[in-house]
Amino acid sequence: MEEGIRVKYYESHEGVYKKIKKNNMSSWGEFCGKSETFEDFYMKEYLVTALGRVRPSADARILDIGCGTGPISCFLARQGYNVDGIDVSRTAIEIARTNAKERDLDIHFSVDDICCVSNTRSDIYDFVIDTHCMHCITYDTDRHAALASIFRLLKKGGYFIVETMSIEDPFKWSFKGRIDEQGILWNEVKKNSPYDKVLFEDKFWMCTRRLMSPSDLERELKQAGFSIEHTRTVQDQDIEYMEDFQAICRKPVGN
Ligand SMILES: C[S@@+](CC[C@H](N)C(=O)[O-])C[C@H]1O[C@@H](n2cnc3c(N)ncnc32)[C@H](O)[C@@H]1O
Repeated sequence: MEEGIRVKYYESHEGVYKKIKKNNMSSWGEFCGKSETFEDFYMKEYLVTALGRVRPSADARILDIGCGTGPISCFLARQGYNVDGIDVSRTAIEIARTNAKERDLDIHFSVDDICCVSNTRSDIYDFVIDTHCMHCITYDTDRHAALASIFRLLKKGGYFIVETMSIEDPFKWSFKGRIDEQGILWNEVKKNSPYDKVLFEDKFWMCTRRLMSPSDLERELKQAGFSIEHTRTVQDQDIEYMEDFQAICRKPVGN
């Protein structure tokens, strides 16, 4: 399938956040019908384990990419860390600000695209956390841009903590949509959808997820310049052929 040119495909999350706002829900996890709450989010256990391994200083500065309505940013701010959260969705950031205010937490949330962060911003964060954002970035060019931004935004010796959807054999995917040979998941959209879409077999399709194998994810991280200190794959709770790939990566001290 060919790449089109419209509003970026990953900006389509805005539509979901409008529904989250309308239905007075607190987070993406709640919208997806998982047994999660804002305080008890899906990657909490891993985050606690990862932070226990790398032991951030009490005043560490952390960036939550694809922060959504802010469950992970709020959790980190409550631990005392200095947290910034970014998301491409305006509505998500609006809800995240309300969520932080209600909990009396001081977090800097902004609407930003991790694929296009200004080159002038560098060496800022001790940690960057991928809270299920990177699997929404499907094309290699966008993924390379996002990983280059993350690398640049980290201080030397800073950590990139990843949890992302992974699949060994993308052709096992059997839910909605179709998958191509690169592991890009395509979902059918209406002809008038404003987002980046392609025409294939008389239907319009938008890419929504990138499903890579653990070894391809590791390769991609190494190519971006990270050293990989720890990886683990965890079986998805609902789909037997899916996994979550977790990694603790580091920007080398010498870079
Ligand atoms: C699966 S949701 C997870 C949201 C949040 N981390 C949570 O746990 O509730 C993925 C998020 O990544 C955001 N996102 C996707 N592409 C992005 C990009 N290029 N830059 C910043 N955020 C992005 C989406 O808007 C969405 O909020």
